[in-house]
Amino acid sequence: MAFYICAALVTVIFCSFYYFMKKKYSYWYNKGVKGPTPLPIVGNFLTVMLQKESATEYVKSVHLKYKGEKLVGLYRGFKPVIVVRDPDLIKQVLIKDFHIFRDRGVSASSSRLSANLFGAEGETWRILRQKLTPVFTSRKLKEMVPLMQQCVDKFLKYVDYLVENNVEHEIRSLTSKYTLEVIGSCAFGLDLDACKDEENEFSIMAKKIFTPTTYARFLVLLDMIIPGVRKLFTTSTEIQEFFLGLVRNVIREREGKLAVRKDFMDLMIELREQGKLSRRNDDGISEIELDDYVIAAQALVFYSAGFETSAASMSFLFHELALNPDIQDRMYNEVCKVYEKYNGQLTYDSLKELPYLDMVFEETLRKYSVAGILLRKTLETYTFPGTNVTIPEGTPVMISANGLHADPEYFPNPSKFNPENFSPENKEKIPQCAYMPFGEGPRNCIGMRFAKVQSAIGTAAFLKNFKIERSPKTNTEFEYDPTRIVLITKGGIWVKISKR
Ligand code: HEM
Repeated sequence: MAFYICAALVTVIFCSFYYFMKKKYSYWYNKGVKGPTPLPIVGNFLTVMLQKESATEYVKSVHLKYKGEKLVGLYRGFKPVIVVRDPDLIKQVLIKDFHIFRDRGVSASSSRLSANLFGAEGETWRILRQKLTPVFTSRKLKEMVPLMQQCVDKFLKYVDYLVENNVEHEIRSLTSKYTLEVIGSCAFGLDLDACKDEENEFSIMAKKIFTPTTYARFLVLLDMIIPGVRKLFTTSTEIQEFFLGLVRNVIREREGKLAVRKDFMDLMIELREQGKLSRRNDDGISEIELDDYVIAAQALVFYSAGFETSAASMSFLFHELALNPDIQDRMYNEVCKVYEKYNGQLTYDSLKELPYLDMVFEETLRKYSVAGILLRKTLETYTFPGTNVTIPEGTPVMISANGLHADPEYFPNPSKFNPENFSPENKEKIPQCAYMPFGEGPRNCIGMRFAKVQSAIGTAAFLKNFKIERSPKTNTEFEYDPTRIVLITKGGIWVKISKR
């Protein structure tokens, strides 16, 4: 008798679970949205959970596979997620209906330092964005160019030393040193000497931020099945303590004094002296206290969003120059002319006279979209214009920038490195929202111009002094590290560098 009861119970549980899953996983089918078949419980992200590929690479493969579809449906665990493929609908999401897709839905942990611009939502985001935008105006960037020049000088000296001593060249570790130096100097007013001193605390923290611990990876995996669960766990306090300490030290040194560096920290101190930041919410006007935590949270996000992305993109650019000597020669000639015209010093304005360098940089970010996925979340029920597809409030939206960049519909022969894709004539033909290495709309990358200036100055100075060639260790195909958010190759990027 007991056996029959148990068997009946198991059958009921099994059937209920089967019915539950079938219902959950029919969600997109019922809406007429195509997509890959999900696996029980894990949905579509099993390879990501097993760390065989990154979420960015997986969504790219979905984008490329569902050619002809405007929308593709996925499941993260049981949670429906929509991938928007069509540039017109993407424009709708990122720009025209921004008020409905303002948030990313990624505030990762409950820590006070997660209240940063990248993860912030609602009015908090709007007010932070508005207050932080002045850090990146042309005037501010112009003022930062001399600081960047100092970093370039240190970087060139270091490369010179490596070349003289015949040290092998892993180019990403080189570009990391340069971008670390620049962000340290322009954001925090620190003279890191990252090239010489590899063991400085800033470099060590960089490694820790970008190399997640097993525990942090486990939380990411768990969050794949149970979205939002990560918020319930605390994350490493070491990095947070470091940034809080750093910010407090700089504030203590500078408060009450005249702003001289005009960097990120000066601006934050200035804002703090002006008083609290107001924000409007459902209950009326409230205030954001610009305390040490809020300042440190922004400092940390500038550092984490700006450092690795910039270093990776510069390293891919140098790699392509090693493989394409004709492109390198053309760039070198352009750079030399501008140096000559400006008496051997690059200025902010002189960068406008490097259009080919700009084309090469754009093409690098197309072929290697270092931050290849854009995330949004619906704030209300939404029907995609021109379709019958309606999604409820809270649906995660993914846009595969790297999928669009590898789509032959917009870029013929996408695996070829071809700066001509960005010649003035060809650039005009790219549909809006088919090329978005820095995202698009009011929530695009706030550091875009900073990244472009820093890369242009560093690349031009490097080329003026050094030649990059293939070495026996140079790869033509890369395998990417699936555990990293930014596009990072396994085994590094190797080239030969010699003096001009
Ligand atoms: C080549 C370098 C870089 C690339 C490719 C890049 C790419 C991106 C992308 C794709 C986004 C998401 C945009 C969207 O969702 O529409 C983003 C956001 C952001 N980036 Fe960058 N980024 C770079 C450099 C920087 C730098 C240098 C900084 C800071 C100094 C920075 C700070 C940020 C911040 C704070 C956000 C969040 C903006 C917001 O939510 O309002 N990034 N970046």
